[in-house]
Amino acid sequence: MGDYLPQITFVPNLVSALNVTCRAFGGDGGSVLMQVPNYPPFLSAAANNHQTIVAAEVVYKRDENGIIRYEIDFDAFEAAITPDTKLFLFCNPHNPVGRVYQRWELERLAEICLRHDLIVCSDEIHCDLLTPGQTHIPFASLSPEIADRCITLMSPSKSFNMPTLDVAFAITTNADIAKRFNQAAAGFVSHPSGLGYAAAQTAYTECQPWLDEALAYLTANRDYLVDYVQQNLPGIYTTCPEGTYLAWLDCREANLEPDPYHFFLEKARVGFNNGKDFGPGGEGFVRLNYACPRATLTEALERVRVALQG
Ligand SMILES: Cc1ncc(COP(=O)(O)O)c(C=O)c1O
Repeated sequence: MGDYLPQITFVPNLVSALNVTCRAFGGDGGSVLMQVPNYPPFLSAAANNHQTIVAAEVVYKRDENGIIRYEIDFDAFEAAITPDTKLFLFCNPHNPVGRVYQRWELERLAEICLRHDLIVCSDEIHCDLLTPGQTHIPFASLSPEIADRCITLMSPSKSFNMPTLDVAFAITTNADIAKRFNQAAAGFVSHPSGLGYAAAQTAYTECQPWLDEALAYLTANRDYLVDYVQQNLPGIYTTCPEGTYLAWLDCREANLEPDPYHFFLEKARVGFNNGKDFGPGGEGFVRLNYACPRATLTEALERVRVALQG
């Protein structure tokens, strides 16, 4: 067991911490477990460290209003684990599918990770970006046994819109995990700048009112977007994100050539993220970031509507 003193290692950004984590815990030629579709640097962190990805696809469900919601297939999750899997890279809230996992879901994942003796790296960068009624539960808070095998990655960069200030951090209560993380980072990853530390401290101690306003704006943008897609974009379906500011649009029924990403880029001059970069389950989807002024969102959606009409 760890000594329960939280150990915090500061790094300039979270993506470098994902790579350090694979280096430290993924094992030589080992495999890294992750849910897909997922934020592309999850996939590249394993590949950069010559590790195989063992992917557990989250399950696509669509309700009678055309709203997509993903669920975990726990049997598929467990079945993806191989004898050389040492590490589970977890994204909660889940980019790109917008889920904020509930306690019972986290507990079932935790139970599987314990049984297979996995280290869990929980990327919780979107933890403050929740819609009303949602609660973020840190994976490491589930139990002392889970905390003892968990490293949590966080940063103020999403919530307070300050990625260029370069500050993120890794937290664990297990001294051995902290040591291995720090050893893997040594010589590769620098520290945040003084400005980054100061900005993080200011964000966390003084900027809650700003965040509250931003969240209200984001929720209104989300609702506008979901309604717009339902009313105006035939053949396109969206998630109604519980967290993050990212919508995940299923364009498969619209049959867009050569693929939805290039279709919208060329015909609408709207740049989404290409779903196929998010791993299995991403083909035929695009990701839309609605953390922008409403006028920008409106114009993008209008252009998409017109492009779909041909
Ligand atoms: C899940 C997740 N992790 C990490 C990052 C990037 O963090 P950073 O800019 O600190 O590398 C993002 C940004 O989109 C993200 O969505």
